[in-house]
Amino acid sequence: MKTTKPLLDIKNLHVAVEGKEIVKNVNLTINEGEVAVLMGPNGSGKSTLSFALMGHPKYQITKGTISYKGEDLTKCSPTERAKKGIFLSFQHPSEISGVTIANFLRTAVNARHQEKMNPLEFRKVLKEKMKELHFDEQFANRYVNEGFSGGEKKKAEMLQLAVLQPTLAILDETDSGTDVDALKVIGNAIKTIQQQTNMTVIIITHYNRILQYVDVDKVYVMEQGQIIRSGDVTLAHEIERTGYKNN
Ligand SMILES: Nc1ncnc2c1ncn2[C@@H]1O[C@H](COP(=O)(O)OP(=O)(O)OP(=O)(O)O)[C@@H](O)[C@H]1O
Ligand SMILES: [Mg+2]
Repeated sequence: MKTTKPLLDIKNLHVAVEGKEIVKNVNLTINEGEVAVLMGPNGSGKSTLSFALMGHPKYQITKGTISYKGEDLTKCSPTERAKKGIFLSFQHPSEISGVTIANFLRTAVNARHQEKMNPLEFRKVLKEKMKELHFDEQFANRYVNEGFSGGEKKKAEMLQLAVLQPTLAILDETDSGTDVDALKVIGNAIKTIQQQTNMTVIIITHYNRILQYVDVDKVYVMEQGQIIRSGDVTLAHEIERTGYKNN
């Protein structure tokens, strides 16, 4: 259920990378259970904003505040942020040799939740989730992103969402490089998980395709480190038609 209670409240945020200010004066409030879309040209600062939200040490907050559930997030380490239910899917996920998805996910789930699951219990949960999301069971035995195609990596992220059940998921170009069928699986997975858990979602995307599967509440447009426009889903359609330059 959507509420008007802010989950994330960003005020006058400035973020610098290696001494260069990239994000400038961002003000953004995202309510509990809301699905927000963040668009904007290449290099406008979308990923930088996501990394700052996750607490990446390279991304320095030079000014402003980030409040999450009414608490100052900037004082928390990335691990603490993850434990508080914030999840960031990377635009370019890295590979981990010799770690299966099942083991990776179990470690992540056990780190987040008080109640620990043994491998057998976790297998059962994973199997159920994979069935719900129409995944091939063999998928879980494969190594984390090693030898995965681009689309498979993105699908693996949906499994992470399904088992971790974050409060806030930031999905950085989860739809890029996916074929129409994978896009459908991913779009429906986001929708299913969002509805089941009332997850708050920030979808970073360049295209409208993914938006046909998810009910979007707000669309924000970033340019040169600032949020310059906001609106409902029609804004995303308008950008698709006319581009950024004509707005
Ligand atoms: N680690 C870094 N070192 C130096 N410059 C960086 C770093 N990270 C980002 N930048 C610069 O910050 C700007 C914003 O980059 P960012 O990745 O946030 O853009 P984006 O909106 O996510 O773009 P895209 O749509 O292409 O993913 C770019 O000019 C980029 O070169
Ligand atoms: Mg990016």
